[in-house]
Amino acid sequence: MGDATLIRLEDVHFGYRSHAVFSGLTMDIPEGEITAIMGPSGTGKTTLLELVTGQRKADRGRVRIHDRDLGSLSRSELYRLRREMGLLFQDGALFSDLSVYENVAFPLREHTRLSNTLIHHLVLMKLEAVGLRGAASLHPSELSGGMARRVALARSIVLDPLMMFYDEPLVGLDPIAMGIILRLIVHLNQTLGITSVIVTHDVKEVLKIADHGYILSEGRVVARGRPSELAQSRDPWVRQFLDGSPDGPVPFNYPARDFAQDLFSAGVAT
Ligand SMILES: Nc1ncnc2c1ncn2[C@@H]1O[C@H](COP(=O)(O)OP(=O)(O)OP(=O)(O)O)[C@@H](O)[C@H]1O
Ligand SMILES: [Mg+2]
Repeated sequence: MGDATLIRLEDVHFGYRSHAVFSGLTMDIPEGEITAIMGPSGTGKTTLLELVTGQRKADRGRVRIHDRDLGSLSRSELYRLRREMGLLFQDGALFSDLSVYENVAFPLREHTRLSNTLIHHLVLMKLEAVGLRGAASLHPSELSGGMARRVALARSIVLDPLMMFYDEPLVGLDPIAMGIILRLIVHLNQTLGITSVIVTHDVKEVLKIADHGYILSEGRVVARGRPSELAQSRDPWVRQFLDGSPDGPVPFNYPARDFAQDLFSAGVAT
């Protein structure tokens, strides 16, 4: 653990057909640490995870993992690399017709040829890690939202990933369930030595556990640092984002002409 960079984005440009999302994004994700990537809705956080996990390709620039350029990997190399990655998506969809146990066993059955006995041990270990070994025989419809998220988490770590990517892991959870997920993220990071990346707009919660944070806006990094450094930042953009204030450099209003002019001019479309 420490200073080594595991994932590096270099001058990444990416856009969907209609508009640019990233125009020169550069960032480092240190190995073995928890990095929070924050930014308002629509800044491209989910897109960023898709680029880093090889689900999308950068239009320009490079995404490197272990010093290898994702863009130059063959399909099978990319597939192998993706097995080192665990993803927890916001909707972490479990298979509704499979039990909790079978949901967690699923990646093992898909990707390995392990015996049933070994699968049994691994599944119970991962369920134990998220505190739900007792729920193994339940079906997803019998779980609360927080429990379902933990089952999805158990499933995403069952292949022992080296990297974990969390997309909005706290959305829709009550404060207790949030605390449990946050503690699990830290626990997995420490006990398994995983590199963790959390993408979120739950700034306050996530900065409690992150080692590093990046704040994105309009396709670029506007701030980076340790949580304490970000908290002390005087940058108006960072302040507005961290304090959640409606007034600041981030526009609240859609661009419009002068208000008085609109009010007093006749014939404005209504
Ligand atoms: N498949 C797609 N096709 C076209 N545009 C897309 C697609 N996915 C996302 N976008 C656009 O790209 C931008 C970034 O989207 P993205 O989902 O990465 O944002 P985000 O930061 O994850 O937002 P949120 O916090 O709301 O989840 C948005 O403006 C969105 O409308
Ligand atoms: Mg998103």
